[in-house]
Amino acid sequence: MTTLNDRNIVITGFMATGKTTVGKLVAEKLGRPFIDTDDVIVQRAGKSIPEIFAQDGEAAFRQMERDLVQELAQQRGLVIATGGGMLVDPVNRETMLKSAYGFCLEAEPEEIEARLAGETGRPLAGNWRYLYEQRRDAYKAIPNHIGTQRQTGQEIADRVIRHVIDCIDVRTPEGSYAIHFDPQFIQSDFTIYRRKLAAVVTNTTLDKLYNIRLQSSLYPDAIITILDGEQYKTLETVAALYGEFVKAGLDRSSVVYAFGGGVVGDTAGFAAATYMRGIDFIQVPTSLLAMVDSSVGGKVGVDLPQGKNLVGAFKQPQVVIIDVNVLNTLPEREWRCGMAEVIKHGLLADPVLLDLAPNYRANIDEIIRRAIQVKVDVVEADPYEKGIRAHLNLGHTFGHAIEQVSGYAVPHGEAVGMGLIAAAVLSARLGMCPADLPEYVEGVVGGIGLPTRMGDFDPEAIYAAMSTDKKWQSGQSRFVLLEGIGKPKIVTGVPKSDVLAVLEQMK
Ligand SMILES: NC(=O)c1ccc[n+]([C@@H]2O[C@H](COP(=O)([O-])OP(=O)(O)OC[C@H]3O[C@@H](n4cnc5c(N)ncnc54)[C@H](O)[C@@H]3O)[C@@H](O)[C@H]2O)c1
Repeated sequence: MTTLNDRNIVITGFMATGKTTVGKLVAEKLGRPFIDTDDVIVQRAGKSIPEIFAQDGEAAFRQMERDLVQELAQQRGLVIATGGGMLVDPVNRETMLKSAYGFCLEAEPEEIEARLAGETGRPLAGNWRYLYEQRRDAYKAIPNHIGTQRQTGQEIADRVIRHVIDCIDVRTPEGSYAIHFDPQFIQSDFTIYRRKLAAVVTNTTLDKLYNIRLQSSLYPDAIITILDGEQYKTLETVAALYGEFVKAGLDRSSVVYAFGGGVVGDTAGFAAATYMRGIDFIQVPTSLLAMVDSSVGGKVGVDLPQGKNLVGAFKQPQVVIIDVNVLNTLPEREWRCGMAEVIKHGLLADPVLLDLAPNYRANIDEIIRRAIQVKVDVVEADPYEKGIRAHLNLGHTFGHAIEQVSGYAVPHGEAVGMGLIAAAVLSARLGMCPADLPEYVEGVVGGIGLPTRMGDFDPEAIYAAMSTDKKWQSGQSRFVLLEGIGKPKIVTGVPKSDVLAVLEQMK
């Protein structure tokens, strides 16, 4: 499931942070060629770096660096340790990291001072304090940061390797991004994915649980909290976020992290997509539903009083970070809600998920990876929902309407669970699928403790809510139904009487 692709791995950072040591160890373990850019320059110039500085000047050295960046960026499968100043240049940085994993090694100034003591051969070492301050912002623009204090070179190398191996790449028309699996993400200090200015958007519940951890793992300039609940996934909350972004000084080079479930991800993502015509956005999903579904695929948005997700945008995250350990604090009911989307993915394309579902806590690692892979395959094939991406709405036409009619008292996942059963019942009623499919789907949904019946909701009210669904084109009903497991089909123009009969049965 996890892949090591051939993107270059680029290790940079201030002088004396161990770039070469770590780079060599990474290259050795992965069996990749290792390039130390300073060594290449020395070799080509036929003299040491202090000699280049003394005889040709720093400008000549920087030009050699620029030429080398252009050359290396064309190649694949390398592990590259750069000179400390190479990626301070924005063009070098952009070119080198365009399709590479970039890591910046960090150390506190006192540590650097101690490491530099007595060293020779670094022409700029005498000036290091000034340079440290001067380069700080440029280093912040490297996507991944690793603190090097109290860690061996091997430990740091292992962290780099885990990061690049344990990920799924998502290809989009705007470039690709990675979904990283990092079970130590929230517990570790200094593993920071950051930009010049970074704000975390989270909600009040998660802020109480994770504020202190967020401070040291993400190292943000601001933590902005929104109220907890679907009822706050609104334009009013987005407007409040814009205000907080301005207050925090976020500009076009800043990044917004969404740390939360689907509500935080959708709302913060929409704010990031529209603030200053769009700034970078990183998803750190904390609910199972957000991990397997909402954080992947680039759909962000908010609800209107008239219906769910009626305002939104496509905004691809820069990266998605999945730390399965944050699920330890997720309430049991929310686990089950996330499992509703997992079951949906199982019904759409991966029946193994349906076998794993009853024992979901024990199988969670495999479940998350398999369910994400289903979503990735669909969104890669149809990034803007022109065709098969609509299959991901299986159970959602019913589900959204149930949520809405309940005034959002029924959570999204529970509504989707009922919606999946309703979709199977409607498929059977229309003679599209084996007659025992509804019973099977009900068994899987009910088997994990999700409700299987709607209760006392009025079918007419639910039908009315469905007809505001944005997927109903020109007022014509539109459902994703099943011809069998793994065989979704979009069906339009289903007679109202059939839908009402199904809703009656679901009461
Ligand atoms: N953008 C998409 O592609 C997409 C796809 C599916 C669903 N969604 C949207 O996602 C939303 C539902 O997401 P959700 O189910 O994550 O709801 P949610 O964001 O409301 O989270 C559910 C509850 O769990 C809490 N929570 C989350 N993580 C926690 C943790 N680690 N520890 C303790 N509590 C935690 C939250 O505070 C909240 O109370 C809906 O708005 C839905 O429309 C979007």
